[in-house]
Amino acid sequence: MDTQVLIDEAIESLQSQIDDTAIIACSGGIDSTVAAVLAHKAVGSMLRCVYVDTGLMREGESEEVESMFSELGIDLRVVDASQSFFRSLSGVVDPEEKRKEIGEQFIRVFEEEQRVCEAKYLVQGTIAPDWIESGGGERDVIKSHHNVGGLPEDVDLDIVEPLREFYKDEVRAMARHLGIQSSERQPFPGPGLAVRVLGEVTPDRVASCREACHIVEKRIREAASDGRCDLPWQYFAALLPVRSVGVHGDVRVHGETVVVRAVASLDGMSARYSDLPQDLLAEISTEITNSLKGQVNRVVYDITHKPPGTIEWE
Ligand code: XMP
Repeated sequence: MDTQVLIDEAIESLQSQIDDTAIIACSGGIDSTVAAVLAHKAVGSMLRCVYVDTGLMREGESEEVESMFSELGIDLRVVDASQSFFRSLSGVVDPEEKRKEIGEQFIRVFEEEQRVCEAKYLVQGTIAPDWIESGGGERDVIKSHHNVGGLPEDVDLDIVEPLREFYKDEVRAMARHLGIQSSERQPFPGPGLAVRVLGEVTPDRVASCREACHIVEKRIREAASDGRCDLPWQYFAALLPVRSVGVHGDVRVHGETVVVRAVASLDGMSARYSDLPQDLLAEISTEITNSLKGQVNRVVYDITHKPPGTIEWE
């Protein structure tokens, strides 16, 4: 269907669902940004956009989100909740438990916001793969994406999901139509770097993962713009709690492992690993081990398709 028609229908549907103050968590990702722009077009100042700084975002991400919303002409309230997110994740290693804790923290922040603005609705950027893979319909739970499985039972807001029936490529087309500058940005999971830090999520380990992700993103983007490879659909690093022996100079170190992941995909439902040039992988490996000396002494490349793997490691 024509993208403008989809947009008009989504706006109309939002107008029929929202008759009072609504809030939305804006991560800067394409899904929540499209949902926010549609809802803002539908109900204007009845919508309160909130950006939660979870401490789990990528390098420079918070600043980018703020400037994107200011260019879109939408007010954005920024809440720094990183301390409570890290507190709630202390000692948690199970991926599903992490998502539940994170979902719960988001909701707590929103309950606080709700008290302030007396919101009745919570708009979410859930797209079709989120609920299908979270056990929608007859399927097994693959991962409870935070905006589905992490919701506590007692949430006191009506949930509105304007993108629930859409796939990523359709949401991207809407974003381009709406003039959203992040429309070509790669997807980033709602729970942020927490699902790329395997094992316990501590501020130090998140900082290492953030640096490794930054190096992977920067190097691959540069290589793609120099024509050395195609730009993958998604490309990032994850930190594994696997320690191996290495050497720095004459010193033996027992550091952790970074895995580099890059995949080609259309909608995230299936994916093929990207066959990146060997010299590019070597450059990424060297920069990561130099930059994270003493913490990371081994870099590996993931050559698993989805299925059987998933794109993220958790
Ligand atoms: P997987 O890892 O399930 O990922 O193959 C498919 C796509 O979804 C993203 N992803 C998430 N997005 N909350 C999200 O909003 C999540 O918990 C989550 N887990 C994975 C992933 O980055 C990929 O684009």
